[in-house]
Amino acid sequence: MEATSPALSRIGLAGLAVMGQNLALNIAEKGFPISVYNRTASKVDETLDRAVAEGQLPLSGHYSPREFVLSIRRPRSVIILVKAGSPVDQTIAALSDHMEPGDCIIDGGNEWYENTERRIRQVAEKGLLYLGMGVSGGEDGARHGPSLMPGGSYEAYLNIEDVVKKVAAQVEDGPCVTYIGEGGSGNFVKMVHNGIEYGDMQLIAEAYDVLKTAGGLSNAELADIFDEWNRGELESFLVEITANIFKVKDEHGNGDLVDKILDKTGMKGTGKWTVQQAAELSVAAPTIASSLDCRYLSGLKEEREAAAEALKEAGMREDVGAVRSGIDKKRLIDDVRQALYASKICSYAQGMNLLRAKSVEKEWNLNLGELARIWKGGCIIRAVFLDRIKRAYLRNPNLASLIVDPEFAREMVQRQAAWRRVVGLAVSNGISTPGMCASLNYFDTYRRARLPANLIQAQRDLFGAHTYERIDGPGSFHTEWTKLAQKSNSGVAALN
Ligand code: 6PG
Repeated sequence: MEATSPALSRIGLAGLAVMGQNLALNIAEKGFPISVYNRTASKVDETLDRAVAEGQLPLSGHYSPREFVLSIRRPRSVIILVKAGSPVDQTIAALSDHMEPGDCIIDGGNEWYENTERRIRQVAEKGLLYLGMGVSGGEDGARHGPSLMPGGSYEAYLNIEDVVKKVAAQVEDGPCVTYIGEGGSGNFVKMVHNGIEYGDMQLIAEAYDVLKTAGGLSNAELADIFDEWNRGELESFLVEITANIFKVKDEHGNGDLVDKILDKTGMKGTGKWTVQQAAELSVAAPTIASSLDCRYLSGLKEEREAAAEALKEAGMREDVGAVRSGIDKKRLIDDVRQALYASKICSYAQGMNLLRAKSVEKEWNLNLGELARIWKGGCIIRAVFLDRIKRAYLRNPNLASLIVDPEFAREMVQRQAAWRRVVGLAVSNGISTPGMCASLNYFDTYRRARLPANLIQAQRDLFGAHTYERIDGPGSFHTEWTKLAQKSNSGVAALN
Protein backbone atom coordinates (compact mmCIF):
# COMPACT_ATOMS: atom_id res chain seq x y z
CA MET A 1 0.00 0.00 0.00
CA GLU A 2 1.32 3.44 -0.86
CA ALA A 3 0.14 6.93 -0.04
CA THR A 4 1.51 8.33 -3.32
CA SER A 5 2.87 7.13 -6.69
CA PRO A 6 6.29 5.45 -6.44
CA ALA A 7 8.54 8.11 -8.05
CA LEU A 8 12.00 8.34 -6.45
CA SER A 9 11.90 9.98 -3.02
CA ARG A 10 13.91 13.04 -1.98
CA ILE A 11 15.03 11.38 1.25
CA GLY A 12 14.60 8.21 3.33
CA LEU A 13 13.98 7.46 6.98
CA ALA A 14 14.53 4.12 8.71
CA GLY A 15 13.29 3.42 12.24
CA LEU A 16 9.61 4.19 12.75
CA ALA A 17 9.21 4.40 16.52
CA VAL A 18 7.60 7.60 17.87
CA MET A 19 10.37 10.02 16.84
CA GLY A 20 10.94 8.42 13.43
CA GLN A 21 7.27 8.35 12.47
CA ASN A 22 6.74 11.95 13.42
CA LEU A 23 9.87 13.25 11.75
CA ALA A 24 8.99 11.36 8.55
CA LEU A 25 5.49 12.87 8.50
CA ASN A 26 6.95 16.32 9.16
CA ILE A 27 9.37 15.95 6.21
CA ALA A 28 6.55 14.75 3.94
CA GLU A 29 4.29 17.58 5.04
CA LYS A 30 6.97 20.12 4.10
CA GLY A 31 6.72 18.83 0.54
CA PHE A 32 9.66 16.41 0.38
CA PRO A 33 8.60 12.94 -0.87
CA ILE A 34 10.02 10.46 1.63
CA SER A 35 10.57 6.68 1.72
CA VAL A 36 10.25 4.96 5.07
CA TYR A 37 11.38 1.58 6.35
CA ASN A 38 11.20 -0.36 9.60
CA ARG A 39 12.27 -3.89 10.48
CA THR A 40 8.81 -4.60 11.90
CA ALA A 41 6.43 -4.24 8.96
CA SER A 42 3.44 -3.12 11.06
CA LYS A 43 5.26 0.14 11.85
CA VAL A 44 5.54 0.85 8.12
CA ASP A 45 1.79 0.27 7.71
CA GLU A 46 1.04 2.48 10.72
CA THR A 47 3.10 5.32 9.23
CA LEU A 48 1.45 4.90 5.82
CA ASP A 49 -1.99 5.10 7.45
CA ARG A 50 -0.99 8.27 9.26
CA ALA A 51 0.37 9.80 6.06
CA VAL A 52 -3.01 9.27 4.43
CA ALA A 53 -5.00 10.44 7.46
CA GLU A 54 -2.85 13.53 8.01
CA GLY A 55 -3.42 14.89 4.50
CA GLN A 56 -2.32 12.42 1.80
CA LEU A 57 1.33 13.19 2.53
CA PRO A 58 3.97 12.11 -0.05
CA LEU A 59 5.31 9.10 1.85
CA SER A 60 6.06 5.62 0.52
CA GLY A 61 6.52 2.58 2.71
CA HIS A 62 9.09 -0.17 2.10
CA TYR A 63 9.53 -3.60 3.59
CA SER A 64 13.09 -4.52 2.67
CA PRO A 65 16.31 -2.51 3.05
CA ARG A 66 17.15 -2.93 -0.64
CA GLU A 67 13.78 -1.82 -1.96
CA PHE A 68 13.87 1.09 0.52
CA VAL A 69 17.34 2.32 -0.47
CA LEU A 70 16.66 1.99 -4.20
CA SER A 71 13.50 4.09 -3.86
CA ILE A 72 15.56 7.17 -2.93
CA ARG A 73 17.01 9.68 -5.39
CA ARG A 74 20.83 9.87 -5.58
CA PRO A 75 22.91 11.05 -3.84
CA ARG A 76 20.80 9.33 -1.23
CA SER A 77 20.27 10.78 2.23
CA VAL A 78 18.90 8.29 4.74
CA ILE A 79 17.98 9.33 8.27
CA ILE A 80 18.07 6.54 10.83
CA LEU A 81 16.19 6.86 14.11
CA VAL A 82 16.83 3.73 16.11
CA LYS A 83 18.11 3.13 19.65
CA ALA A 84 21.67 4.40 20.18
CA GLY A 85 24.46 1.82 20.25
CA SER A 86 24.40 -1.53 18.43
CA PRO A 87 20.96 -1.06 16.76
CA VAL A 88 22.58 1.84 14.86
CA ASP A 89 25.44 -0.41 13.71
CA GLN A 90 22.97 -3.10 12.63
CA THR A 91 20.87 -0.61 10.67
CA ILE A 92 23.96 0.83 8.97
CA ALA A 93 25.05 -2.70 8.01
CA ALA A 94 21.62 -3.51 6.56
CA LEU A 95 21.34 -0.30 4.53
CA SER A 96 24.91 0.39 3.46
CA ASP A 97 25.08 -2.83 1.42
CA HIS A 98 22.68 -1.21 -1.04
CA MET A 99 24.06 2.34 -0.92
CA GLU A 100 26.56 3.84 -3.36
CA PRO A 101 29.51 6.23 -2.99
CA GLY A 102 28.33 9.77 -2.25
CA ASP A 103 25.20 8.55 -0.43
CA CYS A 104 24.82 9.55 3.19
CA ILE A 105 23.58 8.09 6.46
CA ILE A 106 22.26 10.51 9.10
CA ASP A 107 21.90 9.18 12.63
CA GLY A 108 19.24 11.22 14.46
CA GLY A 109 19.50 9.43 17.82
CA ASN A 110 21.04 10.48 21.14
CA GLU A 111 24.31 8.80 20.26
CA TRP A 112 27.68 8.97 22.03
CA TYR A 113 29.80 11.24 19.82
CA GLU A 114 32.73 8.84 19.59
CA ASN A 115 30.46 6.16 18.10
CA THR A 116 29.60 8.64 15.35
CA GLU A 117 33.29 9.35 14.74
CA ARG A 118 33.97 5.61 14.47
CA ARG A 119 31.08 5.19 12.00
CA ILE A 120 32.25 8.17 9.91
CA ARG A 121 35.55 6.31 9.36
CA GLN A 122 33.83 2.98 8.85
CA VAL A 123 31.37 4.06 6.14
CA ALA A 124 34.04 6.19 4.44
CA GLU A 125 35.66 2.89 3.39
CA LYS A 126 32.61 2.37 1.15
CA GLY A 127 32.68 6.00 -0.02
CA LEU A 128 29.62 6.85 2.08
CA LEU A 129 29.14 10.11 3.96
CA TYR A 130 27.85 10.38 7.53
CA LEU A 131 26.14 12.86 9.82
CA GLY A 132 25.37 12.56 13.54
CA MET A 133 22.35 14.80 13.98
CA GLY A 134 20.97 15.75 17.40
CA VAL A 135 17.18 16.00 17.24
CA SER A 136 15.38 17.70 20.09
CA GLY A 137 11.76 18.42 20.81
CA GLY A 138 10.20 15.07 21.62
CA GLU A 139 7.24 13.71 19.70
CA ASP A 140 5.59 17.05 19.08
CA GLY A 141 8.83 18.73 18.01
CA ALA A 142 9.62 15.94 15.56
CA ARG A 143 6.18 16.27 13.97
CA HIS A 144 5.88 20.06 13.85
CA GLY A 145 9.41 21.45 14.03
CA PRO A 146 12.36 20.19 16.07
CA SER A 147 15.72 21.78 16.76
CA LEU A 148 18.28 19.95 14.64
CA MET A 149 22.02 19.69 15.32
CA PRO A 150 23.74 18.00 12.35
CA GLY A 151 27.50 17.42 12.53
CA GLY A 152 29.93 15.42 10.37
CA SER A 153 30.36 15.62 6.59
CA TYR A 154 29.71 19.18 5.34
CA GLU A 155 29.05 17.82 1.84
CA ALA A 156 26.32 15.59 3.29
CA TYR A 157 24.87 18.56 5.15
CA LEU A 158 24.63 20.55 1.92
CA ASN A 159 22.69 17.64 0.38
CA ILE A 160 19.96 17.95 3.04
CA GLU A 161 20.16 21.65 3.86
CA ASP A 162 16.95 22.54 2.00
CA VAL A 163 15.07 19.75 3.79
CA VAL A 164 16.28 20.39 7.35
CA LYS A 165 15.79 24.15 7.03
CA LYS A 166 12.11 23.60 6.22
CA VAL A 167 11.54 20.79 8.69
CA ALA A 168 13.12 22.51 11.72
CA ALA A 169 11.23 24.85 14.05
CA GLN A 170 11.15 28.41 12.71
CA VAL A 171 11.95 31.40 14.90
CA GLU A 172 12.19 35.08 13.94
CA ASP A 173 15.90 34.78 13.15
CA GLY A 174 15.70 31.65 11.03
CA PRO A 175 15.19 27.88 11.16
CA CYS A 176 16.45 26.05 14.27
CA VAL A 177 19.19 24.20 12.45
CA THR A 178 22.75 24.94 11.45
CA TYR A 179 25.76 22.91 10.40
CA ILE A 180 27.41 22.29 13.79
CA GLY A 181 30.88 21.16 12.77
CA GLU A 182 32.94 18.10 11.90
CA GLY A 183 33.07 14.64 13.48
CA GLY A 184 30.70 13.91 16.33
CA SER A 185 30.07 17.59 17.13
CA GLY A 186 26.32 17.35 16.42
CA ASN A 187 25.89 14.55 18.95
CA PHE A 188 28.12 16.32 21.46
CA VAL A 189 26.10 19.53 21.22
CA LYS A 190 22.88 17.55 21.67
CA MET A 191 24.40 15.79 24.68
CA VAL A 192 25.20 19.13 26.35
CA HIS A 193 21.70 20.36 25.43
CA ASN A 194 20.41 17.40 27.44
CA GLY A 195 22.76 18.18 30.36
CA ILE A 196 21.36 21.72 30.40
CA GLU A 197 17.86 20.19 30.20
CA TYR A 198 18.63 18.14 33.35
CA GLY A 199 19.80 21.34 35.12
CA ASP A 200 16.71 23.32 34.09
CA MET A 201 14.37 20.55 35.24
CA GLN A 202 16.15 20.23 38.59
CA LEU A 203 16.03 24.00 39.20
CA ILE A 204 12.32 24.10 38.38
CA ALA A 205 11.70 21.15 40.71
CA GLU A 206 13.52 23.00 43.51
CA ALA A 207 11.46 26.16 42.91
CA TYR A 208 8.34 23.96 43.22
CA ASP A 209 9.65 22.34 46.40
CA VAL A 210 10.48 25.64 48.14
CA LEU A 211 7.12 27.20 47.18
CA LYS A 212 5.20 24.10 48.23
CA THR A 213 7.17 23.10 51.31
CA ALA A 214 8.19 26.45 52.82
CA GLY A 215 5.40 28.54 51.30
CA GLY A 216 2.56 26.03 51.56
CA LEU A 217 1.34 26.78 48.04
CA SER A 218 -1.32 24.55 46.49
CA ASN A 219 -1.05 23.01 43.03
CA ALA A 220 -3.65 25.48 41.75
CA GLU A 221 -1.53 28.39 43.02
CA LEU A 222 1.60 26.82 41.52
CA ALA A 223 -0.15 26.48 38.15
CA ASP A 224 -0.97 30.20 38.22
CA ILE A 225 2.56 31.17 39.26
CA PHE A 226 4.23 29.11 36.53
CA ASP A 227 1.76 30.51 34.00
CA GLU A 228 2.68 34.00 35.12
CA TRP A 229 6.40 33.24 35.03
CA ASN A 230 5.91 32.01 31.50
CA ARG A 231 4.87 35.51 30.49
CA GLY A 232 8.13 37.06 31.70
CA GLU A 233 11.89 36.49 31.63
CA LEU A 234 11.44 32.76 32.45
CA GLU A 235 9.24 32.15 29.39
CA SER A 236 10.18 28.68 28.18
CA PHE A 237 8.82 25.30 27.18
CA LEU A 238 9.72 23.69 30.52
CA VAL A 239 8.03 26.42 32.60
CA GLU A 240 4.96 26.24 30.34
CA ILE A 241 4.58 22.46 30.66
CA THR A 242 5.17 22.67 34.41
CA ALA A 243 2.17 25.02 34.76
CA ASN A 244 0.06 22.51 32.82
CA ILE A 245 1.22 19.56 34.94
CA PHE A 246 -0.17 21.26 38.07
CA LYS A 247 -3.62 21.50 36.43
CA VAL A 248 -4.13 17.78 35.79
CA LYS A 249 -6.44 15.80 38.10
CA ASP A 250 -5.85 12.15 38.88
CA GLU A 251 -8.17 10.14 36.68
CA HIS A 252 -7.85 7.11 38.93
CA GLY A 253 -8.58 8.73 42.28
CA ASN A 254 -8.99 11.98 44.18
CA GLY A 255 -6.65 14.90 43.96
CA ASP A 256 -3.98 15.98 41.49
CA LEU A 257 -1.95 13.57 39.40
CA VAL A 258 1.40 15.21 40.19
CA ASP A 259 1.00 14.23 43.87
CA LYS A 260 0.51 10.57 42.95
CA ILE A 261 3.71 10.19 40.93
CA LEU A 262 6.49 8.17 42.54
CA ASP A 263 9.46 10.45 43.27
CA LYS A 264 12.07 8.46 41.34
CA THR A 265 13.57 10.07 38.21
CA GLY A 266 14.51 7.91 35.25
CA MET A 267 17.30 8.68 32.78
CA LYS A 268 18.86 7.39 29.61
CA GLY A 269 22.47 8.52 29.86
CA THR A 270 23.08 11.84 28.11
CA GLY A 271 23.16 13.79 31.40
CA LYS A 272 25.71 11.38 32.81
CA TRP A 273 27.88 11.71 29.69
CA THR A 274 27.73 15.51 30.04
CA VAL A 275 29.06 15.35 33.60
CA GLN A 276 31.71 12.80 32.61
CA GLN A 277 32.85 15.07 29.78
CA ALA A 278 32.93 18.10 32.10
CA ALA A 279 35.27 16.15 34.39
CA GLU A 280 37.40 14.97 31.45
CA LEU A 281 37.82 18.53 30.23
CA SER A 282 38.34 20.07 33.70
CA VAL A 283 35.27 22.26 33.29
CA ALA A 284 33.23 22.94 36.43
CA ALA A 285 29.58 22.08 35.81
CA PRO A 286 28.21 21.81 39.37
CA THR A 287 24.58 22.67 38.58
CA ILE A 288 24.36 20.01 35.89
CA ALA A 289 26.26 17.55 38.12
CA SER A 290 23.90 18.21 41.03
CA SER A 291 20.90 17.51 38.81
CA LEU A 292 22.43 14.15 37.93
CA ASP A 293 23.24 13.37 41.58
CA CYS A 294 19.66 14.19 42.49
CA ARG A 295 18.38 11.71 39.93
CA TYR A 296 20.62 9.06 41.53
CA LEU A 297 19.42 9.95 45.04
CA SER A 298 15.80 10.04 43.93
CA GLY A 299 16.24 6.46 42.75
CA LEU A 300 17.02 5.36 46.32
CA LYS A 301 13.40 5.69 47.39
CA GLU A 302 13.39 2.84 49.93
CA GLU A 303 16.75 3.94 51.37
CA ARG A 304 15.50 7.52 51.72
CA GLU A 305 12.39 6.33 53.53
CA ALA A 306 14.56 4.31 55.91
CA ALA A 307 16.89 7.30 56.40
CA ALA A 308 13.93 9.52 57.26
CA GLU A 309 12.92 7.01 59.93
CA ALA A 310 16.46 6.57 61.28
CA LEU A 311 17.00 10.31 61.59
CA LYS A 312 13.62 10.80 63.23
CA GLU A 313 14.64 8.27 65.84
CA ALA A 314 17.95 10.09 66.20
CA GLY A 315 16.01 13.22 67.13
CA MET A 316 15.50 15.04 63.82
CA ARG A 317 12.93 17.75 64.52
CA GLU A 318 9.53 17.22 62.92
CA ASP A 319 9.24 20.85 61.88
CA VAL A 320 12.31 20.75 59.63
CA GLY A 321 10.90 20.99 56.13
CA ALA A 322 7.45 22.03 57.32
CA VAL A 323 5.44 25.02 56.06
CA ARG A 324 6.69 28.19 57.70
CA SER A 325 4.00 30.12 59.53
CA GLY A 326 3.66 33.80 58.78
CA ILE A 327 5.66 33.63 55.58
CA ASP A 328 5.16 36.49 53.11
CA LYS A 329 3.97 34.41 50.15
CA LYS A 330 4.09 37.21 47.62
CA ARG A 331 7.68 38.01 48.44
CA LEU A 332 8.67 34.34 48.53
CA ILE A 333 7.21 33.80 45.04
CA ASP A 334 9.09 36.80 43.69
CA ASP A 335 12.33 35.71 45.37
CA VAL A 336 12.04 32.19 43.97
CA ARG A 337 11.47 33.55 40.47
CA GLN A 338 14.67 35.57 40.74
CA ALA A 339 16.62 32.67 42.26
CA LEU A 340 15.48 30.39 39.45
CA TYR A 341 16.53 32.88 36.79
CA ALA A 342 19.97 33.58 38.29
CA SER A 343 20.59 29.85 38.87
CA LYS A 344 19.69 29.18 35.24
CA ILE A 345 22.25 31.68 33.98
CA CYS A 346 24.97 29.82 35.92
CA SER A 347 23.84 26.47 34.56
CA TYR A 348 23.91 27.70 30.94
CA ALA A 349 27.30 29.30 31.58
CA GLN A 350 28.59 25.84 32.58
CA GLY A 351 27.11 24.13 29.52
CA MET A 352 28.47 26.76 27.14
CA ASN A 353 31.94 26.59 28.69
CA LEU A 354 31.90 22.81 28.32
CA LEU A 355 31.05 23.20 24.63
CA ARG A 356 33.83 25.68 24.14
CA ALA A 357 36.42 23.48 25.87
CA LYS A 358 35.47 20.51 23.66
CA SER A 359 35.50 22.71 20.57
CA VAL A 360 39.06 23.76 21.34
CA GLU A 361 40.15 20.17 22.01
CA LYS A 362 38.59 18.81 18.80
CA GLU A 363 39.03 21.96 16.67
CA TRP A 364 35.31 21.99 15.90
CA ASN A 365 35.13 25.77 15.78
CA LEU A 366 31.70 25.77 17.44
CA ASN A 367 29.78 29.03 17.22
CA LEU A 368 28.20 29.38 20.67
CA GLY A 369 25.91 32.24 19.67
CA GLU A 370 24.56 30.22 16.76
CA LEU A 371 23.98 27.22 19.04
CA ALA A 372 21.95 29.42 21.40
CA ARG A 373 19.96 30.58 18.36
CA ILE A 374 19.04 27.09 17.15
CA TRP A 375 17.88 26.25 20.70
CA LYS A 376 15.42 29.15 20.68
CA GLY A 377 12.70 26.99 19.12
CA GLY A 378 11.72 23.35 18.81
CA CYS A 379 13.86 21.86 21.55
CA ILE A 380 13.17 21.00 25.18
CA ILE A 381 15.26 23.89 26.56
CA ARG A 382 13.73 26.47 24.18
CA ALA A 383 13.34 29.75 25.98
CA VAL A 384 13.13 33.46 25.35
CA PHE A 385 16.30 33.81 27.41
CA LEU A 386 18.34 32.00 24.73
CA ASP A 387 18.06 35.06 22.53
CA ARG A 388 19.91 36.99 25.23
CA ILE A 389 22.62 34.30 25.27
CA LYS A 390 22.89 34.53 21.50
CA ARG A 391 23.34 38.29 21.75
CA ALA A 392 25.92 37.96 24.53
CA TYR A 393 28.12 35.81 22.25
CA LEU A 394 27.51 38.13 19.30
CA ARG A 395 28.74 41.03 21.43
CA ASN A 396 31.81 39.04 22.40
CA PRO A 397 32.51 35.65 20.78
CA ASN A 398 35.40 35.15 23.23
CA LEU A 399 33.28 35.74 26.31
CA ALA A 400 34.97 33.87 29.20
CA SER A 401 31.63 33.17 30.87
CA LEU A 402 28.02 34.31 30.53
CA ILE A 403 28.40 35.54 34.11
CA VAL A 404 30.70 38.36 33.00
CA ASP A 405 28.62 39.47 30.03
CA PRO A 406 27.63 43.01 31.07
CA GLU A 407 23.88 42.34 30.71
CA PHE A 408 23.87 39.01 32.54
CA ALA A 409 26.30 40.34 35.17
CA ARG A 410 23.90 43.20 35.93
CA GLU A 411 20.95 40.82 36.17
CA MET A 412 22.74 38.49 38.53
CA VAL A 413 23.83 41.32 40.79
CA GLN A 414 20.24 42.62 40.84
CA ARG A 415 18.91 39.19 41.76
CA GLN A 416 21.52 38.06 44.22
CA ALA A 417 19.74 39.30 47.38
CA ALA A 418 16.60 37.32 46.50
CA TRP A 419 18.70 34.33 45.42
CA ARG A 420 20.56 34.29 48.74
CA ARG A 421 17.28 34.63 50.67
CA VAL A 422 15.79 31.60 48.90
CA VAL A 423 18.89 29.43 49.37
CA GLY A 424 19.17 30.61 53.00
CA LEU A 425 15.53 29.81 53.69
CA ALA A 426 15.87 26.39 52.06
CA VAL A 427 19.05 25.54 53.94
CA SER A 428 17.69 26.63 57.33
CA ASN A 429 14.48 24.69 56.72
CA GLY A 430 16.14 21.52 55.50
CA ILE A 431 14.67 21.73 52.00
CA SER A 432 17.36 20.41 49.68
CA THR A 433 18.09 22.78 46.80
CA PRO A 434 21.30 21.32 45.35
CA GLY A 435 20.90 22.99 41.95
CA MET A 436 20.28 26.49 43.28
CA CYS A 437 23.05 26.08 45.89
CA ALA A 438 25.46 24.77 43.23
CA SER A 439 24.67 27.72 40.98
CA LEU A 440 25.09 30.25 43.79
CA ASN A 441 28.35 28.65 44.92
CA TYR A 442 29.55 28.60 41.31
CA PHE A 443 28.78 32.31 41.05
CA ASP A 444 30.43 33.12 44.40
CA THR A 445 33.51 31.05 43.61
CA TYR A 446 33.92 32.41 40.11
CA ARG A 447 33.50 36.06 41.09
CA ARG A 448 35.97 35.99 44.00
CA ALA A 449 39.40 37.28 43.10
CA ARG A 450 40.95 35.34 46.00
CA LEU A 451 39.97 31.86 47.12
CA PRO A 452 41.28 29.66 49.95
CA ALA A 453 43.16 27.61 47.35
CA ASN A 454 46.39 29.01 48.80
CA LEU A 455 45.85 26.79 51.85
CA ILE A 456 45.25 23.72 49.69
CA GLN A 457 48.49 24.44 47.81
CA ALA A 458 50.33 24.70 51.14
CA GLN A 459 48.86 21.35 52.27
CA ARG A 460 49.84 19.70 48.98
CA ASP A 461 53.35 21.06 49.29
CA LEU A 462 53.63 19.93 52.92
CA PHE A 463 52.61 16.31 52.41
CA GLY A 464 53.71 15.74 48.83
CA ALA A 465 56.29 18.40 47.93
CA HIS A 466 53.98 19.38 45.06
CA THR A 467 55.38 22.94 45.16
CA TYR A 468 53.42 26.19 44.94
CA GLU A 469 53.58 29.55 43.19
CA ARG A 470 53.72 32.88 45.04
CA ILE A 471 51.57 35.99 44.60
CA ASP A 472 54.60 38.28 44.60
CA GLY A 473 56.78 36.81 41.87
CA PRO A 474 57.31 34.00 39.37
CA GLY A 475 58.73 30.57 40.10
CA SER A 476 57.84 27.36 41.80
CA PHE A 477 58.62 26.90 45.49
CA HIS A 478 58.87 24.17 48.08
CA THR A 479 58.97 24.71 51.81
CA GLU A 480 59.93 22.36 54.66
CA TRP A 481 56.66 23.18 56.39
CA THR A 482 56.85 20.59 59.18
CA LYS A 483 60.43 21.43 60.14
CA LEU A 484 59.69 25.15 60.14
CA ALA A 485 56.50 24.62 62.14
CA GLN A 486 58.38 22.52 64.71
CA LYS A 487 61.06 25.20 64.96
CA SER A 488 58.41 27.81 65.54
CA ASN A 489 56.75 25.46 68.13
CA SER A 490 60.03 25.13 70.03
CA GLY A 491 60.48 28.89 69.76
CA VAL A 492 57.08 29.37 71.36
CA ALA A 493 57.97 26.75 74.03
CA ALA A 494 61.24 28.54 74.79
CA LEU A 495 59.36 31.82 75.22
CA ASN A 496 56.95 30.14 77.67
C1 6PG B 1 14.97 16.14 23.58
C2 6PG B 1 15.14 15.29 24.80
C3 6PG B 1 15.13 13.85 24.44
C4 6PG B 1 14.89 12.97 25.63
C5 6PG B 1 15.96 12.99 26.65
C6 6PG B 1 15.46 12.45 27.95
O1 6PG B 1 15.84 16.98 23.41
O2 6PG B 1 14.00 15.96 22.86
O3 6PG B 1 16.34 15.62 25.43
O4 6PG B 1 16.28 13.58 23.73
O5 6PG B 1 13.71 13.37 26.23
O6 6PG B 1 17.00 12.19 26.20
O7 6PG B 1 16.54 12.09 28.69
P1 6PG B 1 16.44 11.29 30.03
O8 6PG B 1 15.56 10.09 29.78
O9 6PG B 1 17.86 10.94 30.32
O10 6PG B 1 15.81 12.22 31.02
